[in-house]
Amino acid sequence: MTAAMGTSDHALPAGLSVRPLTEADLEAAAALSAEAGWNQTIADWRLFLQFGSAICLARNSRPIATAASLPYASRFAWISMVLVTAAERRQGLARWLLRHRVEDILGRGLVPVLDATPAGRAVYLGLGFRDTWDLRRWTGSCGQFTAGACDGILVRPLQESDWAQLIALDKDVFGAARGALLRSLAQRLPQAALVAIRHERIVGFSLGRDGRVMTQLGPVAAVDADTAIALAAAALSSISGRVAVDVPDRHLPLIQWLGERGFSAERPLTRMVYQRSSSFDDSARLFAIAGPELG
Ligand SMILES: CC(C)(COP(=O)(O)OP(=O)(O)OC[C@H]1O[C@@H](n2cnc3c(N)ncnc32)[C@H](O)[C@@H]1OP(=O)(O)O)[C@@H](O)C(=O)NCCC(=O)NCCS
Repeated sequence: MTAAMGTSDHALPAGLSVRPLTEADLEAAAALSAEAGWNQTIADWRLFLQFGSAICLARNSRPIATAASLPYASRFAWISMVLVTAAERRQGLARWLLRHRVEDILGRGLVPVLDATPAGRAVYLGLGFRDTWDLRRWTGSCGQFTAGACDGILVRPLQESDWAQLIALDKDVFGAARGALLRSLAQRLPQAALVAIRHERIVGFSLGRDGRVMTQLGPVAAVDADTAIALAAAALSSISGRVAVDVPDRHLPLIQWLGERGFSAERPLTRMVYQRSSSFDDSARLFAIAGPELG
């Protein structure tokens, strides 16, 4: 494939070609995310091949820049894994890749959405993306945590019969159905796959996955902060080692609870939507996202 693949009012620099990312590229792609200090494993990269797509810019057939997208139902599509190896930055490659992804997504009748790092945000603002809300990665160590009083709520492991309700709750909170992806996360980290029950209804859930550097807890969706904290306490007590949780800045009780347990803030992120200043989710009930690459 060549630069004529769809976009672009700018040619690619000499020596670069664009092509779809394939299974054979996943190790090189994982090396790019590791170079940026990111947490993804090859299993994470494979999610894009399984549920969406990814492209790369290659020099001497080796990927030196990537961008992925995941369509979510018929509403919006997530753009992620926008990575340019350090030696190839500031030549417009991220901008080129983004334009390509945006054209592809708009062509499918979907709205492009993403969670931006500060460096990525500088690229996306110039391409028509707008800020909606901010979140932050909190990292710390798992432990035997308790949640405090949480009347009438039972937190227990996810069961097969819970899936229909869990997927419906996630659809409400996230803004689109993504059952197959959620099921794949439950398999990645079964210990963190929990539901909160009140009056025999699911009022919250948590999922997680393994990572290159640390475990990721999320998504965590719940009707209120107490339920989210009960889920986080149970999940963090059932896994071990370092963990990352990406929490919308609005959720101060959960952030305070994490802070009191030794978690500290890492990188800030901004949820951005193409040519819209409102997001599709209900961030009041979204206590931890699945991760910036998944939404
Ligand atoms: C962010 C990243 C993808 C940018 O890639 P890039 O190919 O260097 O970006 P571009 O050359 O297309 O930049 C386009 C414009 O965005 C802005 N920009 C890009 N990187 C920037 C930075 N680090 N700081 C400030 N502005 C920046 C500039 O306006 C730039 O235009 P200019 O060079 O003409 O001034 C790259 O730095 C990277 O891989 N970083 C680590 C991973 C990451 O944060 N990815 C984003 C995830 S949301």
